[in-house]
Amino acid sequence: MSAEIFEKVNKVLKEVELASPKTKEEIEQFRIKYLGSKNTIKPLFGEIRHIANEDKGRFGQLVNSVKKAAEDKFQQLQASLEAAAEQSSSQGIDTSAPGETLALGARHPISVVMNQIIDIFTKIGFTVAEDREIEDDWHNFGAMNTPEDHPARDMQDTFYLQNSAEMLLRTHTSSVQARVMNQTKPPIRIIAPGRVYRNETISARAHCQFHQVEGLYIDENVSFADLKQTLLYFAQEMYGADTKIRLRPSYFPFTEPSAEVDISCFVCNGVGCNICKYTNWVEILGCGMVDPQVLENCGIDSEKYTGFAFGMGIERQAMLKYRINDIRLLFENDIRFLNQFKAAF
Ligand code: DAH
Repeated sequence: MSAEIFEKVNKVLKEVELASPKTKEEIEQFRIKYLGSKNTIKPLFGEIRHIANEDKGRFGQLVNSVKKAAEDKFQQLQASLEAAAEQSSSQGIDTSAPGETLALGARHPISVVMNQIIDIFTKIGFTVAEDREIEDDWHNFGAMNTPEDHPARDMQDTFYLQNSAEMLLRTHTSSVQARVMNQTKPPIRIIAPGRVYRNETISARAHCQFHQVEGLYIDENVSFADLKQTLLYFAQEMYGADTKIRLRPSYFPFTEPSAEVDISCFVCNGVGCNICKYTNWVEILGCGMVDPQVLENCGIDSEKYTGFAFGMGIERQAMLKYRINDIRLLFENDIRFLNQFKAAF
């Protein structure tokens, strides 16, 4: 009988020794359990009645030591809690204050517009093709029918890699046309978004790096009418259902015939404004029927296949859509500017 009671008291002593409350609440619970008015140590004193006389002294000492252990531990815990509170308040930290909320990021307007363009074209069966920014002369110029003496090849416009007449930073995403045509058999229906580089003086209207989306569709019997309808669909999805397009004859080495595409001014709707420079039309892209020579350069039978291509600057679309009047804003990462696009997706 005595032994069992001794064991019970020793168990409580162990419990007290092993307890490791940390928070204020846990420490308070420890106090209630071992030192409160209905604590678990108090009834142990009553057990002395069942202890044999010769053991009573030893038993009393043991129960007292449990009580003392609980008191000491509680004091220690309280002291360390106070020390922690003092340290944090001396560091100016209010641990009861609500935490700081993390600022939510937003997509960059270039990404927003790029994703929009990708969505519009993937809906009608185009797939996305991406390729390298460091390109060789052949894919950027040669395959694209840009003769040796074409002004676009001038060192002024192109960033060549150091000590290389061959490797360059691509000047347009048309280089992806050559890459895809070399690897894939028609039908081909791709858009190629990406960054391009030109050795231009940086100003409000031009930058040495910008983004383009290239489109390419090659199959049997692809016609200029297909091109026009595809671009009308794009313009209306991008700028509103009432948008009209106008094609003006133009020249690109890689297309024949070539055209530049204008959309009706979605800002003034024909009244005249400084976005359309009072012409009611705003240029958005270049396009044309892929020159048969380009098909042949890339191993595609130009007797059997025809195709159309187009290319547009993404900065231009973003600037029009959001009325941004300085291209440099798109590259400066100024948080005051970028914050304004939080509502965009
Ligand atoms: N590569 C041209 C540029 O950078 C844009 C372009 C025009 C691409 C007509 C095309 C096209 O595919 O058919 O200015």
